[in-house]
Amino acid sequence: MPARIGVVGFGTIGKRVAEAITRQPDMELVGIVKTKPDYTAELAVKLGYKLYAANQDSLRKFEEAGLPVKGVLEDLLENVDLVVDATPGGVGAKNKTIYEQKGVPAIFQGGEKADVAEVSFNSLCNYEEAIGRRYVRVVSCNTTGLLRILCTLNKAYGLKRVYATIVRRAADPKEIKRGPVNAIKPDPATMPSHHGEDVKTVLRDLDIVTAAVVVPTTLMHVHVVYAKLARQVSNDEVIELLANTPRIVLVEANKGVTSTADIVELARDLGRKRYDIPELIVWRESIVVKGDEMYWMQAVHQESIVVPENIDAIRAMLKLTTNAMDSIALTDKTLGVKRGTLI
Ligand SMILES: NC(=O)c1ccc[n+]([C@@H]2O[C@H](COP(=O)([O-])OP(=O)(O)OC[C@H]3O[C@@H](n4cnc5c(N)ncnc54)[C@H](OP(=O)(O)O)[C@@H]3O)[C@@H](O)[C@H]2O)c1
Repeated sequence: MPARIGVVGFGTIGKRVAEAITRQPDMELVGIVKTKPDYTAELAVKLGYKLYAANQDSLRKFEEAGLPVKGVLEDLLENVDLVVDATPGGVGAKNKTIYEQKGVPAIFQGGEKADVAEVSFNSLCNYEEAIGRRYVRVVSCNTTGLLRILCTLNKAYGLKRVYATIVRRAADPKEIKRGPVNAIKPDPATMPSHHGEDVKTVLRDLDIVTAAVVVPTTLMHVHVVYAKLARQVSNDEVIELLANTPRIVLVEANKGVTSTADIVELARDLGRKRYDIPELIVWRESIVVKGDEMYWMQAVHQESIVVPENIDAIRAMLKLTTNAMDSIALTDKTLGVKRGTLI
């Protein structure tokens, strides 16, 4: 029998995770939870998803709007083996009390503090640590992007120190409440930024410092990274490693992929739904290795990069498979997540 999963929050992350669950042979989407009967609620109904209201107040609003609503969050929890909470940062921690009362395991997102869960998670780093756990947090988009490559390098060569500058998109495309501003904003103006600390919730002993700035774009984040490795390697060795790592894709500026706009255009040309790019994108030419020092530039599609990790976290927590690479392979096959190259 497939595992019964609920998704609480149906925004940027929740709607993508919900759809990804429907594509898994070992999972079933039982329903989704929202507070407002807006167009995304109508969309959920059109897609055939069962709709639940966050609370009794919301339930009344859904009924007044004439939307078919199955009940409230607590009703959904009666019928699931696990919930993925994709509500705005801070709401998940409040919802946790309800999950605990109902005895339902839950996945939280990167907007929650690390202590909301027993484990902060990235599939390529610590799948094993999430096996059988009740509360797991899938780290944020930037941290997921950093961890995919840092864990890969750490396992292959060892990492001594990392410094990363994170150039953040100002908002998601759908957001209007905090749209791009005509400025470059240090985020924060003090150093370091929180991203390095977040990486350390998974790669605990890593010596990492990050700084971040926000720029007026909605497409993707870009990271400029320096790493000191534990041993000397060659450029070719690193490129071979990255080209053969799941969920990491190399693009070439020489072939015209010179910006995040080109990456998005390519995803659109490839017919990717919503131009989602769950892979970490690394510019091949930016990879420079000198002895035990390495530099590179990478891009992160904030709206979709954490989706495969949510699916793997479900599998680990419910012990659908205890083998990380088996879960990653199944997730990537069902979602069309590439390795090596986008085309
Ligand atoms: N967006 C990104 O780039 C990104 C990337 C990685 C991780 N994350 C993290 O993912 C989480 C979700 O972010 P998001 O960008 O997907 O947010 P979002 O687009 O604002 O969506 C939030 C969803 O949660 C629902 N919601 C709000 N309060 C709720 C409640 N009490 N009970 C049930 N549903 C509720 C909202 O529904 P209503 O509209 O009906 O209220 C909405 O569907 C955050 O922790 C965020 O930090 C976001």
